[in-house]
Amino acid sequence: MKTETRAPGRALTIKVLRHNPADPDSQPQWASFELEEYEGMTLFIALNEIRDRFAPDLQYDFVCRAGICGSCGMVVNGRPGLACRTLTSTLPAEITLAPLPLFKLIGDLSVDTGEWMRGMSERLETWVHEQTTPDIHALEERMEPELAEEIYELDRCIECGCCIAACGTARMREDFVGAVGLNKIARFRLDPRDQRTDADFYQVIGDDNGVFGCMSLLGCHDVCPKDLPLQTQIAFIRRKMVTVS
Ligand code: SF4
Ligand code: SF4
Ligand code: FES
Repeated sequence: MKTETRAPGRALTIKVLRHNPADPDSQPQWASFELEEYEGMTLFIALNEIRDRFAPDLQYDFVCRAGICGSCGMVVNGRPGLACRTLTSTLPAEITLAPLPLFKLIGDLSVDTGEWMRGMSERLETWVHEQTTPDIHALEERMEPELAEEIYELDRCIECGCCIAACGTARMREDFVGAVGLNKIARFRLDPRDQRTDADFYQVIGDDNGVFGCMSLLGCHDVCPKDLPLQTQIAFIRRKMVTVS
């Protein structure tokens, strides 16, 4: 019987920044793991192999493994990205993995983006604001497909936090809403069901924690794994808010 053999792959060295903030004796330190690469290996697969073979207590987050849930953001060789969508073949043989900065560290590569996102959402009130009580017996209002498409395009944000991790202003201002927040305002501003005016939006993003704190260096645009048009949206929202001020 023929047995399948696999050509030896590259020898990978994966360095993971490990720290457990729940353990008072834990200090941040790099842990190094050696793996053999094979075709189609993602960082998700590599981390699973590391946990299975060397470090059963390694902490990292994955849910969908398909770039949809936004839970696997981490800093890969200095650049924020989604581990489940990153093939090791696109990286050099030495790979460093660190948790996303600015979010609460749970342990190793696992951070709490949810708490940050909830705070931002509450400050910006990222939900449809209707002034009238909806009539449940009325026919649904029609929306032009082109407009629905535009809204859908901005709704593709998966709240992974990569844009915040790449943002210089977010490092200086704790309450800066970041590209993720400005993109949400752009999305609700487009939505005809949201009856807020630009003056209302100005109340939540018309300061240095909002659109006027953005330095337009566009790290967010470069790293967004969903390729959202952040550059265009931030510039557009800034122009609109300048006209209100
Ligand atoms: S805007 Fe892009 S990078 Fe930022 S949270 Fe949304 S998907 Fe992630
Ligand atoms: S362009 Fe603005 S939101 Fe994007 S990374 Fe720079 S400062 Fe942050
Ligand atoms: S595991 Fe869901 S985006 Fe990576």
